[in-house]
Formats: sequence, structure tokens, C-alpha cells
Amino acid sequence: MVKVLVTGAAGQVGRELIKLAPAGLEVVGYNSSELDITNAQQVQQMVVEQAPAFIINAAAYTAVDKAEGDAICAYAVNEAGVQNLAQAALILNIPVFHISTDYVFDGTSTAPYKETDPVSPTGVYGASKLAGEQALANSGVKHIILRTSWVFGAEGNNFVKTMLRLGKERDTLGVVADQYGCPTSAASIAKVLWQLAQKYTAEGELLWGIYHFSNSPATTWHGFACEIFKQAVEIGVLDRAPVVNAIKTSDYPTPAKRPAWSVMDGSALENLLGSNVASWQQELSAVLERL
Ligand SMILES: NC(=O)c1ccc[n+]([C@@H]2O[C@H](COP(=O)([O-])OP(=O)(O)OC[C@H]3O[C@@H](n4cnc5c(N)ncnc54)[C@H](OP(=O)(O)O)[C@@H]3O)[C@@H](O)[C@H]2O)c1
Repeated sequence: MVKVLVTGAAGQVGRELIKLAPAGLEVVGYNSSELDITNAQQVQQMVVEQAPAFIINAAAYTAVDKAEGDAICAYAVNEAGVQNLAQAALILNIPVFHISTDYVFDGTSTAPYKETDPVSPTGVYGASKLAGEQALANSGVKHIILRTSWVFGAEGNNFVKTMLRLGKERDTLGVVADQYGCPTSAASIAKVLWQLAQKYTAEGELLWGIYHFSNSPATTWHGFACEIFKQAVEIGVLDRAPVVNAIKTSDYPTPAKRPAWSVMDGSALENLLGSNVASWQQELSAVLERL
């Protein structure tokens, strides 16, 4: 049976990868205490011992604001950690499937970002993720870099969970309405990674490189929040929806600057897989059912 090693198995995407693993693949998943990707020796030992057919890296330092004052740790995981996995993969000559972010872009565009568009992160998190992409690309290992955005799911901390909590506590809240992006469920990211992995397993090759993937269509955090409350009331997760006021980014200062435009063009991946992406509204409904 084809064996797959998944890192960061307790994260939002990691958990979905384990849950949605296709039949016929043997998946070994490790959380951060079982396999710390910043530890080169441990990574090498584990990869060589397990001898998987490929690695899926769902581990990352994802605390965007905290990263501004914690660059050493952010780079240790998001750059050096990825490099460690790439070095271990080289020993066995196996591919690495890696996840990256819309935060590699500065958000000044007004058209959906293509894989070939110039990158220019505005904060430590985005810069550390970009450094990870480059480490993987320069390692010589076969790789997929799946850039995604605005991840939500039933597990872990995310915008949906925060909105549901605030919706219970408050009658009114302000949500940023001048940042545009595509919410993406952790489950849909896991599914697309497994689709890619199965294509590789079946065909023995893949068109390696960077791909953009998110659910559709584009919205704002305000639009996303309104839909969360609408659906939550419909299915009885909340008794009533709070009033959601549209605010500006400047009204809600954060340590890390967020891109105003995070929309990515996913057509290259759709063409590769011959499938259309799900809407985030549908994915949200599935997540709310699970909560
Ligand atoms: N969340 C988003 O909105 C978003 C948007 C775009 C792209 N992404 C990308 O999507 C991927 C998955 O993100 P996610 O939302 O699933 O993040 P997450 O829920 O924060 O999961 C990341 C996991 O990585 C683990 N981890 C951290 N340091 C590690 C280390 N040194 N060794 C091994 N594991 C370590 C964490 O474990 P501990 O909790 O124990 O530290 C956590 O379980 C990441 O590459 C992220 O950059 C996320």
C-alpha cells in the first residue's frame, strides 16, 4: 500500500487530511509534539524510517499578528522546517506537497492573482511563508505548492468560530468590509491535496509547481460574517443574528498589515484536475452542520 506522511496533523487542514484520506493509501500523521519539523535530525530519521511515497506538509506557524514580534520562530517553522522536509525527501527522492498563502502578495492588485504574478509580502508571516516556498523550490525536490486563503473549518481556531462566539456575546459588531478574498474550507484543501496525490500515485508524475486554490466567489470579511450569521440562525446554531456593521481596515488596527486584495485565480489547478471548485457558502454550510 502507498504510504503518505502528513505533518501538522492536528491543525485545521491536517485534521481534514487525516479524516478524508482516500482508501488505498496508508496515512501516517504526526502532530507537532510527535514530529517537530524544525528539528532536522528528527525529520530525517522519521522520513527515512517511515519511507513514505510522498510527504504532505500541513505544519506551519500561522499566528499572523504574533509573527510580527516572533520572526525567529515563524522562519524556523515556515522556512527552515520546509527545508528540513525537502532535504529528507531528497534522500528518498520523493515529492513534497506543501501549503502556502495569499499573504505572499501585497494585495495592491485588482485582478485575481495568478501563480506567475510578482510576490511581495507585507508582513513577517507572509515573508516566512514565501521563504518556505523558495526553500522548497530551490531544494531540487519535486513539489506542489498550494497557495490558499482565509481557511475555516470545524476544527481549530478560525473566523467562523470567532464570529459564532461574538454573535452569542454581542448584539452588534463591526467587521472589515474593505479586504477582498475567498474563504476556503480546510476540508476542500484536504480534498484537493488528495486529488493531486492520487493523480500522482496513478500516473507516477504530476505537473509540479505552484497552484492557487480557494473556494469561490470573492467576498469581504463583512460579507463572510453576514453569511455565517444567516446560515447559523437558519440551522439553529444561533438564536438570532447580531447587527454586523461594515468597518474599514483602518478602524481595526492589527500588528500585521493584511492584503486588501487576496483573490487568487485558481484556473490552472481546475484545468489540471478537470474539476470546479466548491462555493464557500456550501462549504460553510457543511462546517456549521458539523458544529
Ligand atoms: N489559516 C489560514 O487562514 C490560512 C490561510 C492561507 C494559508 N494557510 C496555510 O495553510 C496551512 C495549514 O494551515 P492551518 O489553518 O491548518 O493552520 P493551523 O490550524 O495553525 O495548523 C498548523 C499546525 O502546524 C503545527 N506546527 C506548528 N509548528 C510546528 C512544528 N515546528 N512542527 C510540526 N508541526 C508544527 C501546529 O501545531 P501546534 O498547534 O502544536 O503548534 C498546528 O497543528 C499552513 O501552511 C498555512 O500557512 C492558512
